[in-house]
Amino acid sequence: MFNENLINRFQSLETPFYYYDLALLQNTIDALVKAAPAEYHIHYALKANAHPTLLERIRAAGIGADCVSGNEVKRAVECGFKAEDIVFAGVGKSDKEINYALDQSIFSFNVESLHELQVLDQLSKNKNTKANIALRINPNVDAHTHKYITTGLEENKFGINPYEFDRVLSDLSNLKNLNFIGLHFHIGSQILDLNAFKSLCLRVNEINKWFIQKNYVPKHINLGGGLGVNYREPDTQNIVNFPEYFGIFKQFLELLPEQKVHFELGRCIVAQCGSLISRVLYIKNGINTNFAILDAGMTELIRPALYQAYHKIENISNTKGKEFKYDVVGPICESSDCFGKAVLMPETKRGDLIAIRTAGAYGEVMSNHYNLRDSVASVF
Ligand code: LLP
Repeated sequence: MFNENLINRFQSLETPFYYYDLALLQNTIDALVKAAPAEYHIHYALKANAHPTLLERIRAAGIGADCVSGNEVKRAVECGFKAEDIVFAGVGKSDKEINYALDQSIFSFNVESLHELQVLDQLSKNKNTKANIALRINPNVDAHTHKYITTGLEENKFGINPYEFDRVLSDLSNLKNLNFIGLHFHIGSQILDLNAFKSLCLRVNEINKWFIQKNYVPKHINLGGGLGVNYREPDTQNIVNFPEYFGIFKQFLELLPEQKVHFELGRCIVAQCGSLISRVLYIKNGINTNFAILDAGMTELIRPALYQAYHKIENISNTKGKEFKYDVVGPICESSDCFGKAVLMPETKRGDLIAIRTAGAYGEVMSNHYNLRDSVASVF
């Protein structure tokens, strides 16, 4: 991914920064668009990375937006996504966020609780308008991923549970400012076991039939995102297997011909095109452990500290020679500020450039100012 010209360019830049390979992003978008059956609608989950430069490419491919805050809806609108292509989920939408999205006439509010139905109805009534809603269902399907990014189990805070369905329908019949258009599901993120998506389809079939029998035909079925990427070998598989992913839904979903299918993918579109680039500040050689101390820390990329996530780490300015083991750490005053333990790299010195790979999703967007750190820059 990093040729000599690029490394020379990096040498002249202040670190740390996020580097985005826009050619790889474009290839990924093209592969996604090619693999998605024509009747499937794709939305991009802005939460993975909301950088306007990336959003511009994604929107230009005809992909819609999936937002989880009023500011994400605003970013999507500002970046040219059409209101009719924007969906808005989130377990705790504030009145201000709802009012903003109502003013934009977005395609759908994905409603996550009975209580939210009441509030959304009232806010729509105040504006003398009607909100399109999809019910976010908690299908109780295990995504077999890290527990912090599992969202579709009953123990998770997301969505409406099946035991509430009767109550939902009786409420909906009274809430005149809501327009029921569909069902929404999302079971988790970084899902590598595709059987989880098969289980989701089977559950969706049951739930869909239940609603149809009650004369509430969901026009739209949104199946969420969640497709995982290869953090271990980013260069051998830099674009996920989209045909295999969509093939599962083609095979197992049983819908009426008029029902439309939506997805909201985040990570698998942007993860591989981004790397966090930093410089080695210090080397500390111990008896058991050598530390390579970087100028990037958990403030720039929190995933290893928060989810014990693996990211491939490479010394890109010195790629040759005998390898040694380093614990690659940041400057933040916490022991959790560690990007990788016992990472094999050629002898690493102060000033060497280190790339932390597969950081395009949930990297820059989750960066923060702990220890009063500067904002992280982005380079394309
Ligand atoms: N739709 C909904 C309703 C979601 O909650 C999410 C992610 C997505 C779509 C996009 O899922 P994706 O295709 O990216 O898996 N910060 C964590 C990931 C949190 C994901 C939460 N929901 C991480 O760094 O792994």
